[in-house]
Amino acid sequence: MAAKPDVNEVLIEVVSVNDEKSNSGKIAIVTINRPNKLNALNNTVASALKQTCAWVEQADDIRLMIIRGSEPEPPAEGKRAKPKSFVAGADISEFVGKNSKDIRNSFTDNAWEAIWNLSKPTIAMVDGFALGGGLEIALSCDLRIAGENSRFSTPEINLGLIPGGGGTQRLSRLVGYGKAMEMVMGGEMINAQEARSIGLVNHVHPTGELEAATLELARNIASKSPHTLKVAKATIRAALEHPLDKGITMEADAFAGLFDSEDKEIGVQAFLERQDPEWVGR
Ligand code: COA
Repeated sequence: MAAKPDVNEVLIEVVSVNDEKSNSGKIAIVTINRPNKLNALNNTVASALKQTCAWVEQADDIRLMIIRGSEPEPPAEGKRAKPKSFVAGADISEFVGKNSKDIRNSFTDNAWEAIWNLSKPTIAMVDGFALGGGLEIALSCDLRIAGENSRFSTPEINLGLIPGGGGTQRLSRLVGYGKAMEMVMGGEMINAQEARSIGLVNHVHPTGELEAATLELARNIASKSPHTLKVAKATIRAALEHPLDKGITMEADAFAGLFDSEDKEIGVQAFLERQDPEWVGR
């Protein structure tokens, strides 16, 4: 069984899906915690995120993972406050002096793929900057929920680079080829409203309401059958990877397969009896 990471840079809080039901399952709220560096993704964070994903995947009671950035700390006297940030990118200081071989190794089997490959639902709760590798963390999640003052960008072009954590591929699939070209080639920031309008984020909330709204959405999703959620996620993913006719066949197989699950019987009976379903996850 994978252990939870024990580092200060990635903190994990576990909350119940339903406070009134002891067996309702749990949500893992994962906070990337480098407030003085705008939560930039260094090797420690990347490795702790991979470990977190392994733990979430194996922990039977965890139904869903939310990823967020830590809040800025109060500024030292005479200093300006640091801005709010989800994750302001890969830690640029770790790029110094690296050659292609060094980077290729660290960008293989990475945190972005670990998040992407989780079979359970994932939500990025973005409040502030989601830039470069930080935007790619959000892109590796299933849903993105943003505070109204958030800013999004793939600024790697300004460093003489391109996104390396799946950004060129996942961004173009999410927002379309033309907008991805503009973002990656121009490196400009877009605000939360524009991110919403191009489908980069699912919802935008006033900052003070973001956490409650994200948790409400997470609790709703996490209250469904964990088995059916996995099948739903894998089947939607098939739309990214296969031509339509193959995807339709995969959906038909997945849909039919659910008719052999206990949770389909439980869900259908609960509807007919006007009860809440008590999922067993198989
Ligand atoms: N990697 C390493 N450190 C980073 C970082 C990153 N991606 N983003 C921010 N930081 C650090 C800064 O170096 C600074 O550290 P310091 O206080 O020890 O000097 C601290 O976080 C605060 O950032 P700062 O630049 O002072 O804040 P700002 O309000 O002036 O600007 C940003 C905010 C987000 C516009 C700016 O930090 C920025 O452009 N960051 C880099 C974004 C980027 O290119 N990301 C893609 C990387 S591939």
